[in-house]
Amino acid sequence: MKKLIWFLSGLGCLVAAGGAQASPEDDRRSVVQAVQEKYPNIKVEDYVYGALAFSPDAKAQYDAVMTFPPYEAEIDKGARMWNTPFKSGKRYADCFPRAGKDVAGNYPMFDNAAKKVVTFEMAINRCRTDNGEAPYKHSDMNTMGLLTAYARTLSDGMKMNIKVEGKDALAAYEAGKRLFHQRRGQLNFSCAGCHINYVGSVLRTEYLSMAPGQATHWPAFRGGDYTLFTLQRRYAACHQMVRLVPLEIGGEEYNNLEYYHSYLSNGLPLKASVFRK
Ligand code: HEC
Repeated sequence: MKKLIWFLSGLGCLVAAGGAQASPEDDRRSVVQAVQEKYPNIKVEDYVYGALAFSPDAKAQYDAVMTFPPYEAEIDKGARMWNTPFKSGKRYADCFPRAGKDVAGNYPMFDNAAKKVVTFEMAINRCRTDNGEAPYKHSDMNTMGLLTAYARTLSDGMKMNIKVEGKDALAAYEAGKRLFHQRRGQLNFSCAGCHINYVGSVLRTEYLSMAPGQATHWPAFRGGDYTLFTLQRRYAACHQMVRLVPLEIGGEEYNNLEYYHSYLSNGLPLKASVFRK
């Protein structure tokens, strides 16, 4: 009996994820293809607009907000944080290649020595601790959120460039992929269910965006009060929507999820920090 359940759940995984042997590049192509087949008129480069690609009205509102973002002062706060030297005299810019320009699209990356996924937020905290400062909490929008709202603008236009090399990196990627495709909770939803299978359907009042492109534009300022959301805070919000207790923001499970999820956006341009409903 146990064996049968194990077999069936394994089979479910295979069907949902498109084959256990698939390489990350095969995975990405088949997800993009599934969206293209459903919406042949939406250009792949427009996937970065997510749900806005389905609604000219919402896209027009987005364009208006983006001309003079009302949250500009918040990004300026992040800029001041980024430019303020540590007690050591060094700055964030000293911790990254090209002083932090065109780097965010390389994250999450896999650290083969530590055998774990390193997000951009973790690299920022590493920079802080290397310089004798306390790390920020990944869930704290007033520190990590604001800082990355500016730091990621330095990579605007860079194309997402996630690499999965070696067996440990692949294992972390596969763990993220499982989390994305697993149905969970009382409502029995998976990320893939909403953001691959039901892309373009309306849930309550919102169109469902496509997974490829979703990782390119964070943090986002959301709603009428422009509340700051990092990508992982958005994961937590989607988990709450399907009545699941969110996982830890900055924890290993969400980091692996972000690794897989960002790979699906490979080749698409980054833009921070955008407006979303
Ligand atoms: C029940 C359906 C549902 C499930 C399940 C779900 N989401 Fe969402 N998600 C939404 C809705 C609705 C929105 C807001 C509209 C949009 O952008 O798609 C959203 C938005 C997002 C966004 C922001 C897109 C943008 O451009 O701003 C991301 C990223 C995201 N979801 C990721 C995930 C991940 C990862 C999971 C699994 C942990 C997940 N979602 C599970 C419904 C869902």
